[in-house]
Amino acid sequence: MNAHDSEKVIGTLVSQGYSQVPTVEEAELVFYNTCSIRDKAEQKVFHRLQQFKRDGKGKTFAVLGCVAQQEGEKIFEKAPHVSMVCGSASYNQLPQMLVQLEAGNRRVTGLSLDTEDTFETPLTRRDNPHRAYITIIEGCDKSCAYCVVPFTRGPERSRTSASVIAESRQLSEIGYTEIQLLGQNVNSYRDPSPAAWNFATLLDSVGHVPGIRRVRFTTSHPRDFVKQIVDAIDENPALCNHVHLPVQSGSTRVLAAMQRLYTRDEYMQRIAWMKSTRRPIAITTDIIVGFPGETEADFEATLGLLDEVEYDSIFSFKYSRRPNTSALALGDHIAEEEKGRRLAILQEKQRQIQIRQNAAYVGKVEECLVEGFNQATGQWIGRTSQNKTLNFLRPVEEGDLTGSYVEARVTRAGPNSLSGEYVH
Ligand code: 5AD
Ligand code: SF4
Repeated sequence: MNAHDSEKVIGTLVSQGYSQVPTVEEAELVFYNTCSIRDKAEQKVFHRLQQFKRDGKGKTFAVLGCVAQQEGEKIFEKAPHVSMVCGSASYNQLPQMLVQLEAGNRRVTGLSLDTEDTFETPLTRRDNPHRAYITIIEGCDKSCAYCVVPFTRGPERSRTSASVIAESRQLSEIGYTEIQLLGQNVNSYRDPSPAAWNFATLLDSVGHVPGIRRVRFTTSHPRDFVKQIVDAIDENPALCNHVHLPVQSGSTRVLAAMQRLYTRDEYMQRIAWMKSTRRPIAITTDIIVGFPGETEADFEATLGLLDEVEYDSIFSFKYSRRPNTSALALGDHIAEEEKGRRLAILQEKQRQIQIRQNAAYVGKVEECLVEGFNQATGQWIGRTSQNKTLNFLRPVEEGDLTGSYVEARVTRAGPNSLSGEYVH
């Protein structure tokens, strides 16, 4: 999401007549986009800003993103060489803010979260030549106890279905075949135009745009993840058979403390929908270990959930304290060392699951979008609809496959990728 914000900010700058340079050294104006979802993001940002100060005489600096929103004008005090601080909810104002910067204003701010606008850009500078990102909803109306996002990205606002479909068509026309729909919670997408589409309808429609062969989406919230989404995936082959459904914990008690608005059973109901489809849907998740008050029994419940769901992969994190969040007030914070122990156990368990899961693919033929060639291994890098990496052999002399769709047979499986041979 943040990386795509950068693509849109760069597009905005370019359409204002700026040009991008390859290194910070060559820049006159440095835009530093920041994330504060976990860890010591603020310290890292101030550290980097100090480096900028040392090496950046005569340059103008702007701080963007979640740390900008969170720290606000404090950034000017701690790092006086910074001239602009702007959170993502104010990116629409960038053209006016640039005028102020050019006029010599050294305290330009965009910090209001009070917006109903989404960030529509005249141009987007896309980094990935195969997969194009489209933001469909910004902000978040949930209030998960550990999460800083509602404070840094503001309330939910959805783009119109017409603008999302128009962007999808444009992308298809310039040669993109894969689209990833983005939002903090795409499932709560609500078309503000009279058509009033929900997420499942939008997803299905993007999957019907001529030339678009793959549609992905991230991220989902189990509370708003309805069966209609699963039905759409089952029926429309252009929708990738992969769902990322963050669970955070396998303990209903911890889920309640996290204010996640679902129980373990309700989550498992959604997993059951996905496991009863005709198409095999890969399921991935996010997990936080060591949330305040998480007991050994709660942690065991999360381990048990991994066994029950058998995820294709997971992102797992140690709980970290975030400013403004309600979890700060909870008692019984878990020691860092114990969080580390739980994380290691969880990751090792998941590794074993992935070894078993991936072994089941040996012998199968999978369609891959070829992302490139790995010189070191001499293999092409393919990605399956299920979002697995499938590396395969085929002599380079026989042609460049990058960007094309091929079929490959899986011959070997590891915990994190598959390898195989080219079929056609
Ligand atoms: N501590 C640890 N992990 C967090 N995440 C969000 N906030 C925190 C936090 N304070 C994780 C969640 C979320 C993912 C994007 O980051 O698992 O789904
Ligand atoms: Fe954060 Fe919860 Fe919103 Fe996700 S749904 S962005 S975890 S508050």
